[in-house]
Amino acid sequence: MTFSNRLIQWYLENKRDLPWRNTTNPYQIWLSEIILQQTRVAQGLPYYLRFVENFPTVFDLANASEEQVLKLWQGLGYYSRGRNLHKTAQIIAFECNEMFPKTYTELLKLKGIGTYTAAAIASFSQKEVVPVVDGNVFRVLARYFDVETDISSATAKKEFTALANELIDKKQPDLFNQALMEFGALQCVPKNPICSMCIFNESCAALQKKKVDLLPIKLKKTKVTERYFNYLVFEDESGNLLIQQRTSKGIWHNLYEFPLIESEKELDEEELIEKISTTSFLTNKLVSIKPFDEKSVLHILSHQRLKIRFWGLNVDGKIEKGISKEAVKKFPFPIVIFNFIEKNF
Ligand code: ADE
Repeated sequence: MTFSNRLIQWYLENKRDLPWRNTTNPYQIWLSEIILQQTRVAQGLPYYLRFVENFPTVFDLANASEEQVLKLWQGLGYYSRGRNLHKTAQIIAFECNEMFPKTYTELLKLKGIGTYTAAAIASFSQKEVVPVVDGNVFRVLARYFDVETDISSATAKKEFTALANELIDKKQPDLFNQALMEFGALQCVPKNPICSMCIFNESCAALQKKKVDLLPIKLKKTKVTERYFNYLVFEDESGNLLIQQRTSKGIWHNLYEFPLIESEKELDEEELIEKISTTSFLTNKLVSIKPFDEKSVLHILSHQRLKIRFWGLNVDGKIEKGISKEAVKKFPFPIVIFNFIEKNF
């Protein structure tokens, strides 16, 4: 039996029943693929269901505000995916003659849709013969064929795409693609795969050469930076709070947060007061200041480790543009801030 036939047979016997696998609707497939990038199925599934329910068509998504989209995206991370999803929906809805593009070439023309997503939509919705190549695919192919190419190199994608192109089932490219990804997600997992129970344990090159733990090769390690965030939770006499939209580029763009003082290290109360004196968030007089928790919370992102501390600051009078605690919860926040709000207000 060929690699492809075996793989598809394994898939049919072992696949998870997931909603985006029971549709050929390109919009729904697109939604699922954007949501699932860098995200586990268990985490992405409820978001997918909420998006389909709230925005049943690409027009509904296009006509929503960015804030609504980000609120629904809250907690999923990598918020640029949500913002780009929304922008691309607007292009499709308003500039593509009201038709969702379905072919690989047409899809690639859209800003915001790359080779992986275009191949996924075209193959799953139309059975177009184009291979999907994501991290799972790199791993399965690198191991099975003992490919030592560095997957963080510029040429890796091309090389693995060429290999997948040779293997793809021309009659069932949709099943082949789903199968290869599912095999990477369930069987040929990054750490401690159970090779003794694998359908390929007699033909996998990495297993025979005892290289399973060494492949795929990834030379470029992601650099992680540490940052210290001091959030100032100003509260006025009627219990209203001050929040602001994060307009700077980088993490959490366009999400909301409390006024922020970023520092080079963790600050004690005295150091923070010193810094606050040089800012102009508010003109109200400061009545009291105290940290909400003894220690900062650690929030880990792919490239950053954030040490976050929330400080409560009572001020006199009324905060101009202050927002009630209940109304605040409706805005899109980074999940670490939203959890703080839910816990304390
Ligand atoms: N991850 C990315 N795409 C996926 C899909 N179609 N099914 C399951 N997991 C995925």
